[in-house]
Amino acid sequence: MAFIQLEKEGHVAVLTIDRPKALNALNSEVLKELESVIDSIDAGETRCLIITGAGEKSFVAGADIGEMSTLTKVQGEAFGKTGNDVFRKIETLPIPVIAAVNGFALGGGNELAMSCDIRICSENAVFGQPETGLGITPGFGGTQRLARLVSPGMAKQLLYTAKNIKAPEALRIGLVNAVYPPEELMPAAKKLASQIADNAPIAVRACKKAVNEGLEKGMDDAIVLEEKLFGDCFETEDQIGGMKAFLNKEKHAPYQNK
Ligand code: CAA
Repeated sequence: MAFIQLEKEGHVAVLTIDRPKALNALNSEVLKELESVIDSIDAGETRCLIITGAGEKSFVAGADIGEMSTLTKVQGEAFGKTGNDVFRKIETLPIPVIAAVNGFALGGGNELAMSCDIRICSENAVFGQPETGLGITPGFGGTQRLARLVSPGMAKQLLYTAKNIKAPEALRIGLVNAVYPPEELMPAAKKLASQIADNAPIAVRACKKAVNEGLEKGMDDAIVLEEKLFGDCFETEDQIGGMKAFLNKEKHAPYQNK
């Protein structure tokens, strides 16, 4: 892989987008590699994935403007589909995904972060959807995920003005969960990932499915989905062992994903 690195540490994997000459901007090649790496993740072995950008300045500075500059309408739509398909794979990956936003998260970069389950960032992070300033709309899910993550009014303000916001404002509007000094970001992401990986993987994966799929349903159907996923956890070794340990006032043994 020329642009993507994947490192595994126990049950946690760290995916780094590494295209320094363009502040990790996403061109077709980067998207292709990203899709291939996401497809390769074994959700049994890896229990939490962290996505970050190489270097100290940028998470991802957007889709590649040079590549987009000459696209036709048909090619533009196809480029949007390419990005959307990859980001949807990240969003629906069975395991939780944390975006460790270490700098610019603009356009496709913010859209990538929003396709993750949890976003944390460094103090130097900058977020925004600059697309209307370039004559386009966001094309990798930004109009949809931003309006679902922050208020519709705030999403529209960010989309219409194309103004960037800094980390404290991203925290205030709920786009990120926490802000850290740059050197503390990856340790914090790994600590969070370990806390997730320590819990029963079947239950964690069921929580992700319940929240993501439940949000697309009405409440009556959503709670039925939860009942089904709740029921699925019973009779697993991890449920039996986890509850037995609690009742015996013991610390549970490491969960086995069974
Ligand atoms: N695409 C292509 N190249 C990019 C890029 C992008 N999105 N962002 C940065 N680069 C390149 C620059 O062209 C520059 O290359 P050269 O050294 O060859 O000139 C290099 O990365 C470094 O960038 P700057 O010199 O501009 O660095 P800076 O610190 O002065 O500014 C920045 C940093 C504010 C992030 C600025 O680079 C910038 O505004 N980038 C564009 C951000 C943007 O508009 N992103 C949205 C793209 S549209 C999109 O993503 C659509 C979608 O939804 C699918």
